[in-house]
Amino acid sequence: MENKKILGFLPFNDETAVGVDFKYKQEDEEILNFFKNKALKCQREHVSRCFELKESEGIVGYLALSLCSINARKLKNPKNIGLFERPAIRIGQLIIDETKRGQGYGKCAINFVISIVRMMKWYLPCRLLVVDALNEKAQTFYEKAGFQMMEDRTLVFDLAPMLKQ
Ligand SMILES: CC(C)(COP(=O)(O)OP(=O)(O)OC[C@H]1O[C@@H](n2cnc3c(N)ncnc32)[C@H](O)[C@@H]1OP(=O)(O)O)[C@@H](O)C(=O)NCCC(=O)NCCS
Repeated sequence: MENKKILGFLPFNDETAVGVDFKYKQEDEEILNFFKNKALKCQREHVSRCFELKESEGIVGYLALSLCSINARKLKNPKNIGLFERPAIRIGQLIIDETKRGQGYGKCAINFVISIVRMMKWYLPCRLLVVDALNEKAQTFYEKAGFQMMEDRTLVFDLAPMLKQ
């Protein structure tokens, strides 16, 4: 699929008005409610960093990131380096406007997160991207992007090959 170009990932601020003209399915209401009611509070407390995905026609999605660590024993074939925890970025929430799905925007959001890790790699290490598999459709999306399902249903993407580049 062609990777559609997102013009910008705009950090949430006091002016952010979530949901204006945003089309979503009933089953995704909880995710949208996070962005409407909790995202800014979490951001002010430095717990999450949230973004609007903006392209020429308007807002096509929302993304929330946070930091976490994963115990290496959960991973397939972890290298023994004498430390159990692996630093990670958690994709807490990601939602694309229902009418814009299947056009590469979700993939763009993952590439954006990878670009952040590449930028910060000289200052802070991050080895994994992680996300909890909310439903089967989202699971397929993340697996296609290169994430692997762990036993506890966490989806994990190993950034090591990307960080060599
Ligand atoms: C999951 C979600 C973020 C994917 O975003 P998207 O913009 O539609 O995904 P993309 O267009 O970038 O798709 C990338 C690949 O995943 C595949 N894919 C995306 N959604 C899929 C689905 N529901 N079922 C199967 N494959 C899917 C696409 O076919 C594409 O494959 P390709 O590279 O082989 O062509 C979006 O469907 C969404 O907002 N879902 C509701 C909220 C949700 O479940 N969020 C995830 C939990 S945090």
